[in-house]
Amino acid sequence: MHPKDAMFKPPAIQPPEKTLPLFKRLFTLADNPIEAWPRAVYEEDFYWAPSPYGPKLLFVTKPEAIREILLDRGEDFSKGSIFLRFLKPALGEAMLTAEGAHWRWQRQAAAPAFRPDTMAKLTPIMSAAAEKMLARWRAAGVGAQVDVAQDMVRITFDIILDTMLSGGEGIDIEETSREISIYLETLGRPSIGDILGLPPSLKKLMSPRGVRAANYLRSVVQQMVARRRSGPSGRGDLVDLLMQAKDPETGRAMSDMELRDNLITFIGAGHETTALALTWSLYLLSQDSVTAQRVRAEVQSVTGDASITQAHVETLSFTRQVVLEAMRLFPPVAALPRQASRDTTILGMPVPKNTIILMPIYAMHRHSKQWDRPDVFDPDRFAPDLGLERQRYHYMPFGAGHRICIGLGFALNEAVAVLATLMREVQLDHNPAHKIRPLVRITMRPEGGMPMRIAALMSRSVD
Ligand code: HEM
Repeated sequence: MHPKDAMFKPPAIQPPEKTLPLFKRLFTLADNPIEAWPRAVYEEDFYWAPSPYGPKLLFVTKPEAIREILLDRGEDFSKGSIFLRFLKPALGEAMLTAEGAHWRWQRQAAAPAFRPDTMAKLTPIMSAAAEKMLARWRAAGVGAQVDVAQDMVRITFDIILDTMLSGGEGIDIEETSREISIYLETLGRPSIGDILGLPPSLKKLMSPRGVRAANYLRSVVQQMVARRRSGPSGRGDLVDLLMQAKDPETGRAMSDMELRDNLITFIGAGHETTALALTWSLYLLSQDSVTAQRVRAEVQSVTGDASITQAHVETLSFTRQVVLEAMRLFPPVAALPRQASRDTTILGMPVPKNTIILMPIYAMHRHSKQWDRPDVFDPDRFAPDLGLERQRYHYMPFGAGHRICIGLGFALNEAVAVLATLMREVQLDHNPAHKIRPLVRITMRPEGGMPMRIAALMSRSVD
């Protein structure tokens, strides 16, 4: 362990002391919204942001208030216009974006794919995908430069296709990842028009590349749906579950369009986020050799040279703490928006209809009232006996309440299995010329990827 004063403090967003002046605020919101959040968001329970255009905007960081919004009085708060503006062009009204009964039956249809007993069988597929990347890195050799952000996307994309979609049947991973990035940089990114409340159709008109990317995603998944509809069922994967599901209210099955939109949701929500959790974990470990050594020692003692299984994942508690702490400092989803669907209250405070509520996860995870030394990388804060992981409205990389991430257990298993597999055999050094700047584009990605150098490759006698 290191002395507390020698712990690594990664570069962080420097919040403006006060609300930015109007024009600077508009441009910052369009460039990287998180850089416009003033210091008050990191120190106060509530912050009403000036919003000369459109509805009022309220930042909420107090755990008890968040519980009201996401759980106790969830019916007063919808996902709202921000969500729909950025996600609907690609995802339609699938599980992430739908509301009410339409959401509920889609969630129930997919739930069996995420049961713990189903999950346990998937872990070997997860470690195998990481081993495939290790083989590429071995072929590249010590000294090779790699973009860890891109390579983590490759691993998690392989995993989501292999575990949920029976291999994805012809989906071109490289091309699809490229199109997802284009979407996130265009239609998935706030524009001045979004901030001024201009109609989404105008944004589409101004972003032909974004529209083409959304169309590409739709057409590849549509083709997969058509192949699955005409082939035999019975594989028991997520596609089968969704095809067989019946809406309990109407008795109808999902249309091709609903099936397509849900599959795009699972592909999108189910790989980029975990890739980011892994990218930030590897970055933090590259800067903190003492913690990296603890992870390696744990992996070695739990797994020896064997491929990583579910039983190992359940025992790799320090490796899991590293992932949890990486998602505290760099949450893949940096903020959760909601919108008041009627005049309502939060902890007794009046909140008018249409108010946009922003739960700024990045700032909540570094809030001065909630955390000791909030900017320091310290996986020991997640020691299981301290119970922090269970404080759902305080630490919430996966959201909370009724709409909590359905893939939480899947993602944590995956991140631990992949991180352990990689850390056992490789040492990566971050390229010091690369400046760390988290950029919010629906998810929070490192600007310029994560360039690293393969500094050492450790051997393992393969079982
Ligand atoms: C580290 C990885 C992940 C992070 C940080 C993450 C984060 C989140 C968050 C914050 C939400 C809540 C959104 C809201 O309340 O508005 C969410 C929802 C969701 N996530 Fe994840 N997620 C991750 C992995 C996954 C995986 C692996 C899958 C699927 C395989 C997945 C599928 C979904 C779906 C379908 C929803 C919508 C759930 C609903 O509305 O009922 N996510 N995720």
